[in-house]
Amino acid sequence: MLTSLVAGGAGFLGSHTCERLLAEGHTVLCVDNLLTGSKGNIAHLLSQSRFSFVKHDVTRPLEVDIPLDYVLHLASPASPKDYLRYPIETMQAGAWGTFNLLELARREKAVFLLASTSEVYGDPAVHPQPEDYWGHVNPIGVRSVYDEAKRYAEALTAAYRRKYALETRIARIFNTYGPRMQPEDGRALPNFMMQALRGAPLTVYGDGSQTRSFCYVSDMVDGLFKLLCSNENDPTNLGNPEEVTLLRLAREVIDLTRSSSQLVFQPLPQDDPRTRRPDIAKARRILAWEPRVSRAEGLRLTLPYFQSVAAGT
Ligand SMILES: NC(=O)c1ccc[n+]([C@@H]2O[C@H](COP(=O)([O-])OP(=O)(O)OC[C@H]3O[C@@H](n4cnc5c(N)ncnc54)[C@H](O)[C@@H]3O)[C@@H](O)[C@H]2O)c1
Repeated sequence: MLTSLVAGGAGFLGSHTCERLLAEGHTVLCVDNLLTGSKGNIAHLLSQSRFSFVKHDVTRPLEVDIPLDYVLHLASPASPKDYLRYPIETMQAGAWGTFNLLELARREKAVFLLASTSEVYGDPAVHPQPEDYWGHVNPIGVRSVYDEAKRYAEALTAAYRRKYALETRIARIFNTYGPRMQPEDGRALPNFMMQALRGAPLTVYGDGSQTRSFCYVSDMVDGLFKLLCSNENDPTNLGNPEEVTLLRLAREVIDLTRSSSQLVFQPLPQDDPRTRRPDIAKARRILAWEPRVSRAEGLRLTLPYFQSVAAGT
């Protein structure tokens, strides 16, 4: 019987990850301070005997009373709206949170997985971004609290690997969407969905020609699980390489929701990346993984969640 600790397990990605680990037969200990997540995300798991929840802030050291095989660190504010609202907490989650969870993994001789991000590439000068691209990050820009926290977390993880031969996995996660993402988190996709369902204008920043690549959550969780089970210690990109302009995405959401909403254009936020697309050649090669859910299918699967949020149910 394998046991996993999922820090940030009451968040969007964390709750889906807990579900997957339970389905794989793991015992799952979910640790979360509920800063940006909610108990509602894991309510359906609480009755399972192999699942438990502890409210704890990972920026403080933690002890557990069961042996651990895996420690997954997903605990961090993740959307721009959240990390701009919680800049210090975000840096602490990347720094102290990573340190405490690495120490826990070292004591337990567990495999440590860091949920890193495509934001370590900043506003990339190389496109698409392979893992050996070092990035283009403004170290004092508004987004740096997140980007640099994750870069530090990667550096600390690599140091533990070198100094203690800790088994490490670093997932560079690109934009992921699906049920349970925060409806008001300021990212393009939930913004568009909620605006379209309310009949409000869809806010497009800049001229909408900037691109993103959206990965459906079941594909992402599958990639995370495969990476966890692999023996790859260095960073691995996980994301959907199909790139779309935000203008096109806005139109797809309007079509899907059959909304009468129009588009409104607003200035680009500071340091907003122009392009974002993972090079997933490495994940294809070492994990035999690639996304399976098309954007059309993923948006269809996500719509009922946003409909229930918009209806207040
Ligand atoms: N969703 C994406 O598209 C995406 C992309 C790249 C990276 N990631 C990374 O994946 C992880 C999960 O992201 P998400 O989208 O599910 O975000 P989320 O905000 O839904 O989940 C993060 C969870 O971490 C918890 N948390 C934050 N600080 C904590 C602390 N100090 N101690 C304990 N718990 C804490 C929050 O309460 C929340 O439940 C994050 O580390 C994020 O950086 C996500």
